[in-house]
Amino acid sequence: MERGFEYVIVGGGVAAGYAALEFTKRGVSHAQLCIISEETVAPYERPTLSKKFLHPESPARLPSFHTCVGANEELLTPTWYEGHGIELVLGTRVESVDVGQKTLLTASGETIRYETLIIATGAKALKLEDFGVKGSEAENVCYLRDLADADRLVNVMQSCTGGNAVVIGGGYIAMECAASLVTNKINVTMVFPEAHCMPRLFTPKIASYYEDYYQSKGVEFIRGTILSSFEFDSNGKVTAVNLRDGSQIPADMVVVGIGIRPNTSLFEGQLTMEKGGIKVNGKLQTSNDSVYAVGDVAVFPVDLCGRIRRLEHVDSARKTAKHVAAVIMEPDKTGEFEYLPLFYSKAFSFSWRFYGDNAGEVVHFGDYLGTKFGAYWINNGHLVGSFLEGGTEDEFEAIANATQLKPAVDDLAEVGRQGLNFAMTG
Ligand code: FDA
Ligand code: NAD
Repeated sequence: MERGFEYVIVGGGVAAGYAALEFTKRGVSHAQLCIISEETVAPYERPTLSKKFLHPESPARLPSFHTCVGANEELLTPTWYEGHGIELVLGTRVESVDVGQKTLLTASGETIRYETLIIATGAKALKLEDFGVKGSEAENVCYLRDLADADRLVNVMQSCTGGNAVVIGGGYIAMECAASLVTNKINVTMVFPEAHCMPRLFTPKIASYYEDYYQSKGVEFIRGTILSSFEFDSNGKVTAVNLRDGSQIPADMVVVGIGIRPNTSLFEGQLTMEKGGIKVNGKLQTSNDSVYAVGDVAVFPVDLCGRIRRLEHVDSARKTAKHVAAVIMEPDKTGEFEYLPLFYSKAFSFSWRFYGDNAGEVVHFGDYLGTKFGAYWINNGHLVGSFLEGGTEDEFEAIANATQLKPAVDDLAEVGRQGLNFAMTG
């Protein structure tokens, strides 16, 4: 079987949902746009999976968190796609793409032709096996990338109340899942190789604030080591985690969050790759004129940082997706993608945001014994990054605006003394 569409999006995650909404706003006609997704449900807000989806009471369930509710926009249920004449091909993996012929082949044996292709394949979770450790298939070892993983995690969690969980990793998934496990009355030990949690972003001072709080909730931290193997019972269930330092931790369940790898394999050898992703220009166009890339998989120029970057965060997935629809539907009216990176997280009652680039020297400010504090990153004499915990909407907006402006900073100590006022009054 063979059919064709003007526009095809491969991948049906966050970026696909936001692109679809923007395509309709810019007048896409019925039967022009097709989205092909390996997942069996319409695009949804992936961040919900490590937060409200894991709540013990009134957890979030579909359809409540389909895109684009995360940005306070319309809830795009499967009926919405139908009503807008968008072909949503679910539960179907794209097996190969020929960018020369402008065709792709799905796992169901269908060939689909396109005029313009948007790559929104996101990323997959790295497995323990990628680091030489066996055991990912055990029934009580959980990863968290998609809805199927989240359903599984909930089931395992519910069978472990009062028991022990070992969380492998110290990044976003580990921190958010550890908080959810505690809320579900499970004892948590976190194990990671670095000296503190969230090493890609947090300074030791910021990390120690959150680690102290997690410890007050009973979480144990084992830093500077990694697991070497698991102990299994006769049913193949993990019963303990062996660490490289020789110690052993009993485990009723294990959650693994050790990073991701972008899903680029369909395009290796066909498109220019860089930094592990698909390289695009300011119009989000790849090295092939008819192919664009957005979301976790795209490596794009970020002026504020003065370099190309691949970002693994929902805000950039949403905004690159909206921009690509504008570029394709209204090329003459649409400029280059200009972006201020935004990362955020919520866990327990914490809520922080980071804007910009975490390069250069850091100045901390605010009350690190209280609930509102932050940091500025100053690079080559200019503010390039801002972090704030516990801010109001106005305060978050102020640090975003200040970072965008990149003001000159001569006296770091003075900026530290002014703290949030530096952004609010600047
Ligand atoms: P995304 O992964 O959303 O979608 C890719 C889609 O493509 C998937 O549906 C996949 O199945 C499909 N696909 C891949 N290959 C395919 C193929 N060959 N054929 C067909 N389909 C294929 N960020 C943030 O800023 N704040 C937050 O709080 C969180 N929280 C969070 C929690 C959890 C649990 C995760 C896993 C991630 C986050 N993130 C986040 C990150 C954020 O969710 C992520 O950056 C976006 O989902 C990226 O959107 P994409 O559309 O690029 O990929
Ligand atoms: P991450 O990159 O945030 O953290 C990976 C962590 O794995 C590292 O910090 C390190 O501590 C640890 N690690 C690496 N190798 C290890 C090993 N061999 N053994 C033990 N630990 C090891 O990735 P993640 O936490 O897995 O998150 C996956 C993706 O989901 C990322 O793209 C992330 O941005 C996204 N996500 C984002 C948010 C958010 O923005 N709030 C929330 C959840 C997930």
